[in-house]
Amino acid sequence: MFETLSAHEKAKYSAAKSATELINSGMFVGLGTGSTAAWFVKCLGEMITNNKLDITAVATSESTKRLAEENGILVKELNEAGWLDITVDGADEFDSNFQLIKGGGGALLREKIVANASHKMIVIADHSKEVPHLGSFPLPVEVVKFGHSVTLQLIGKLIEKLGFEKCKLVVRQDEFGPAETDEGNFILDLHLNKIHDPHLLSY
Ligand code: A5P
Repeated sequence: MFETLSAHEKAKYSAAKSATELINSGMFVGLGTGSTAAWFVKCLGEMITNNKLDITAVATSESTKRLAEENGILVKELNEAGWLDITVDGADEFDSNFQLIKGGGGALLREKIVANASHKMIVIADHSKEVPHLGSFPLPVEVVKFGHSVTLQLIGKLIEKLGFEKCKLVVRQDEFGPAETDEGNFILDLHLNKIHDPHLLSY
């Protein structure tokens, strides 16, 4: 199977496969969202099928939950699991200080909650995600639907105060209109272009 993958998919697979070395039987594992995290889920599934691993997982999205269950992984709700040993998730961009943009796949709120409920958070990404400065990838912000246009305006004012000029802020769309997260929220994509100090935006 590995031989038939594109170079990019091979790189994602390799990152995911390396992360499985951190997983031991008995662990409670948070599963990220996105194509790289999907490789991690498939690798874990293979280990479970071959009786080399026995874990309980919590998924950061409904799509990851489905994939995990299809691959024979026991998935529980975070409330039931309580606390996780480790979470493994992808990223949209990272810089040389390992600062990240995440959430491009639209699961950011759950991803943050699961990561914060984990003893350890491991990010897997291939070299194509490395950038000199964060910001070419639009920064996603998950917001509740109520008053989201006003929230967008307020975020616009805030980022202007922080020194970002003439940035495009958009409500993410899919084929039906504004894209909804698993939590029923909307996502604002902030086209910041170049983020000089990611800490200013990290709440
Ligand atoms: C999901 O919301 C994101 O945080 C993903 O982890 C991110 O978009 C990476 O996805 P890929 O591995 O598909 O690039």
